[in-house]
Amino acid sequence: MLSEIGSNFWINPNEELKDLPLGTPEQFGCKGNDFVWLSTGRSAISFAIKTIEERNPQLKKSAVLPPFTCHTVIEPFLNADYEVYHYPINEKLETSADLILQCVKDHDAAVVLFHRYFGFNTVKGSDSLCRELREQNKFSIEDCTQCLYDGKNKSDADFFVGSIRKWQGTPDGGFAVCREGEFQDKPKQPDTPLEQAKIKASYAKYKYLFDHEGEKPAFLQLYREAEDILIAQDGFRSISPTSQKMQSNLDVCFLQNRRRENFQILLLGLADFQDVRPMFDRLNADIVPLYFPILTKDRAALQAHLVQHAIYAPVVWPKAECLGEVCKEAEYLYQHLLCIPIDQRYDKDDMNRVLETINQFCK
Ligand SMILES: Cc1ncc(COP(=O)(O)O)c(C=O)c1O
Repeated sequence: MLSEIGSNFWINPNEELKDLPLGTPEQFGCKGNDFVWLSTGRSAISFAIKTIEERNPQLKKSAVLPPFTCHTVIEPFLNADYEVYHYPINEKLETSADLILQCVKDHDAAVVLFHRYFGFNTVKGSDSLCRELREQNKFSIEDCTQCLYDGKNKSDADFFVGSIRKWQGTPDGGFAVCREGEFQDKPKQPDTPLEQAKIKASYAKYKYLFDHEGEKPAFLQLYREAEDILIAQDGFRSISPTSQKMQSNLDVCFLQNRRRENFQILLLGLADFQDVRPMFDRLNADIVPLYFPILTKDRAALQAHLVQHAIYAPVVWPKAECLGEVCKEAEYLYQHLLCIPIDQRYDKDDMNRVLETINQFCK
């Protein structure tokens, strides 16, 4: 049986973790006056929105968001009755302070949430963007989910938010940071059913892959059940004890180095391909990539070919039903962008297998 590449992170039930303090989101370069650990990234966005509203009850409920993003980024604004608009990006996922500010002006928006993509600095002038918004009595939120481990490359935003579970297999985990003041009513209770359901699924996957116990449909069903609990979650919950422990034990250097090494192998190996183009053509020293995003004409066919070879390359992101009008570049990306897993579970041999499999497809 071919070993799988990609899809849900497993948890090794035999790994002993130490009791270490979780620390603050400063570990991601997100500094501020106060912070809160939550169970998800989406609830962190809602927490920032709630805080802005409590501090500014008269604020106009109008927000500018990325055009290429996850439904979980848009929904917290829609749930809080915001009108939502999307700033433009180019086909390399890049935008600038000027373009975002123009969008804010066009719609007289009061809040901007922006994010960089896949670990790369795709927002030019983010510090001046945040300062200019502050001068206009408007608010900035940087969602750092995709750029957690690039350390110092964070902006001067009023709020940072993020989800930690895209980078390793924590059952849950998110955070919010505010630049000024203090957060009120920080949740103390974790979502224990979610934590337990995620652990059950992640152990079952581990047992299937490494101990050859159980069946694949069974652990996939367990992940679906856990996701249903997450989707149904209401209110705010704190990060679970298991996620705290996993996060505090995470070997960040290993994660950073392995992701960079895997990325470089794919970058080199795909340099001469016509039908599969890397989204980013260089890896600067401060970048820690989330995935290796590629653009390809027939994405569905390539994705299916990879699946036949046990390589699970996700579409990050499918176009959300709740998405408003976006630029044509974002529309193109929703149709053509595919993400190759390069995370710390994989090594050089795995990346070479990915390259061979893509090569076969292109032939
Ligand atoms: C940029 C970004 N922000 C926030 C989230 C939401 O995180 P969570 O799934 O922990 O709610 C996601 C999820 O994919 C995301 O991609």
